[in-house]
Amino acid sequence: MARILPSADVDERATIGDGTTIWHLAQVREDAELGRDCIVGRGAYVGPGVRIGNEVKLQNHALVYEPAVLEDGVFIGPAAVLTNDPYPRSSDVDGGLKRPGDWKALGVTVREGAAVGARVVVVAGRTIGRWALVGAGAVVTRDVPDFALVVGNPARRIGWVGRAGEPLEAAGEGLWRCPRTGEEYRESAGRLSPSSR
Ligand SMILES: CC(C)(COP(=O)(O)OP(=O)(O)OC[C@H]1O[C@@H](n2cnc3c(N)ncnc32)[C@H](O)[C@@H]1OP(=O)(O)O)[C@@H](O)C(=O)NCCC(=O)NCCS
Repeated sequence: MARILPSADVDERATIGDGTTIWHLAQVREDAELGRDCIVGRGAYVGPGVRIGNEVKLQNHALVYEPAVLEDGVFIGPAAVLTNDPYPRSSDVDGGLKRPGDWKALGVTVREGAAVGARVVVVAGRTIGRWALVGAGAVVTRDVPDFALVVGNPARRIGWVGRAGEPLEAAGEGLWRCPRTGEEYRESAGRLSPSSR
C-alpha cells in the first residue's frame, strides 16, 4: 500500500505503487504512474502522465514536467527541474494565451540508476544515461552518456562514476575501477560499460 500524507495533492487518476510515500504538499497530476517503493519529497511536482519506475527518489521541491520518463532507481535532487518546453512562450503571436494543445511538450528521460544533483536544470528532451551523475547546480543541455559525471553550465563530463556513484579511478589501458566496490568498467570510443573481465 502507498502512503500519501494528507496535505499531498494526488490526482485520483494517478497510479501509485506499493510502498511509495508521497510527502507533504507534493502534487502528483492525472495519469502519472509511479512504481513501488518510491519517495516523493515535500513540495515535489509530478506532471500529468509522467512515468516513474521503482525505487525512485524525488527530493523536496523537485519539479518533473511531463512527459518525462524516470527509470528504476533514479534520484532527482532537491529543487531540480526537468523541463519540457525548449522555446517557451506564455502567449501566441496573436496575443492569445497558449494552452497545452498549442505546443508540444518534450520530456526528459532519466535512465536506470542515474542521479541528478540539487538545483540541476535539464533542458527539454535530453536523456541522462544509465548510472550517470549530474553535479549540483548543473544545466544539462546535451544528452549525458551512461556512467558520465557531468558538472557546470553547460554540463560537461569531468569523469566517470560507477553504480555506487563514486568517481572511478583510472586503472590503465582504458580500464576504470570503483574505489568502493572494486567493480571495473571499460572505456571505448568515449563510452563506458561494465567490464566483462
Ligand atoms: C560533482 C561531484 C559529485 C564532484 O564530487 P568530487 O568527485 O568529490 O569532486 P571534487 O569536489 O574533488 O571537485 C572536482 C572538481 O570539480 C569541481 N566541481 C565539483 N562539483 C561541482 C559542481 N557541482 N559544479 C561545478 N563544478 C564542480 C570542483 O570545483 C573541482 O574543480 P577543480 O578541480 O578545478 O578544483 C559533487 O561535487 C556534487 O556536485 N555532488 C552532487 C551533490 C548533490 O547535489 N546531492 C544531491 C542530494 S543533497
